Amino acid sequence: MTQPTDAAARFAALLAPEGADALAAAGALWADSPPDPLAAAAAMRAAGIPADLASTALTQAGLRHRAGAKFGPDAARLFFTRAGLEQATRAAVATRRAERLAAAGVRHVADLGCGIGADTIAFARAGLRVRAVDADPLTAAVAAANVAALGLSDQVTVTCADATAVPLDTVDGVFCDPARRRAGGGRVFDPRAYSPPWDFVTGLAERVPATVLKLGPGIDHALIPAHAEAEWVSVAGEVVEAALWCGPLAQAPRKATLLSTRDRAVNQLVGSGDALAPVGPVGRFVHDPDGAVVRAHLVAEFAATIGARLADPTIAYCYTDGAAPSPYASGFEVLETLPFSLKRLRAAVRAHGLGILEIRKRGSALEPERLRRDLRLSGGGAGTLLLTRVAGAPTAIIARAVPVA
Ligand SMILES: C[S@@+](CC[C@H](N)C(=O)[O-])C[C@H]1O[C@@H](n2cnc3c(N)ncnc32)[C@H](O)[C@@H]1O
Repeated sequence: MTQPTDAAARFAALLAPEGADALAAAGALWADSPPDPLAAAAAMRAAGIPADLASTALTQAGLRHRAGAKFGPDAARLFFTRAGLEQATRAAVATRRAERLAAAGVRHVADLGCGIGADTIAFARAGLRVRAVDADPLTAAVAAANVAALGLSDQVTVTCADATAVPLDTVDGVFCDPARRRAGGGRVFDPRAYSPPWDFVTGLAERVPATVLKLGPGIDHALIPAHAEAEWVSVAGEVVEAALWCGPLAQAPRKATLLSTRDRAVNQLVGSGDALAPVGPVGRFVHDPDGAVVRAHLVAEFAATIGARLADPTIAYCYTDGAAPSPYASGFEVLETLPFSLKRLRAAVRAHGLGILEIRKRGSALEPERLRRDLRLSGGGAGTLLLTRVAGAPTAIIARAVPVA
């Protein structure tokens, strides 16, 4: 028997009534934190659960536990594979995408490479019909189980198929989130190594104009098709994806969407992606734009929102003379700016009494952790060190964080 067949058989056992019981028992053991593996296996054995099923259920319960961060309370009802969970879209991001597609008038969407179904679920919950396919039999089975677990089977079909062979004549929208991993693990930043292949993915909009593609945040702007909207999305400051909105779905050449987990606020910036910010001296305040703003090449648009300037035309730190809290950036008050020299920096950090130092960098090759050791920090104060360049010269800025907007 081959490995995938084994895995598929073990997953199928989980869906049977004894599997559900085993999963409930494993879930109870995982209630708050990872259980001791030996004690957990013993507890499952004592409950009369066969070893194979117990091991599958404990693994699944662990995945559900981890999935809480992406899926919230739904995680306790959903099924995962390790790779499927890693690659799955966060529910908050998938929901926004699905609602935008529905608002654009899409009624029946093909989800090509649906994974464990995070986007499929969001599409169905937004009222769309979904034709979901995945080439991997176990992953497709997991997606089908998830659709059923959430009572969405009326709206969704899940099949195991190669996306490149799926007819698209019955759908009015397409979503494709290609796999971006090498067989040996690790992310694939070169879209030509995507699966399904890049040419197929970028050709989808010619077949169904209302196409949206989810890509890695590192996508090269040169690869973005003309007339598509490229949207970078961050969640709590972490850039999680780039999405290309094609045909009638495109609203602006470049967009940065920032989702806050603190207050659920959504902040968006749009622009051409090629505007230039003014350049001037370092100011009393420095602003480090969210990664989505930087990746979308919208630093000039961000700077304009707070009247900021760059101190180096190639570096995204923005400066103002007055306080300018912004949801698009982390803001700091500058305490001291000095040309980079380890000796001078060590003395300055000591003079400011900084024993706890956040180190940020843009345009510097220094290794923060090595520098932290070399600074031999002492003192009770907390601050931020920004390593950068000012008009081309390596520069250190000692600063303190200002409250978030
Ligand atoms: C990044 S994951 C999709 C994740 C999904 N959007 C989610 O949020 O759960 C990509 C999926 O594409 C599937 N895949 C890769 N090549 C494929 C192909 N040629 N046809 C269909 N599915 C494919 C992989 O098996 C994988 O599950």
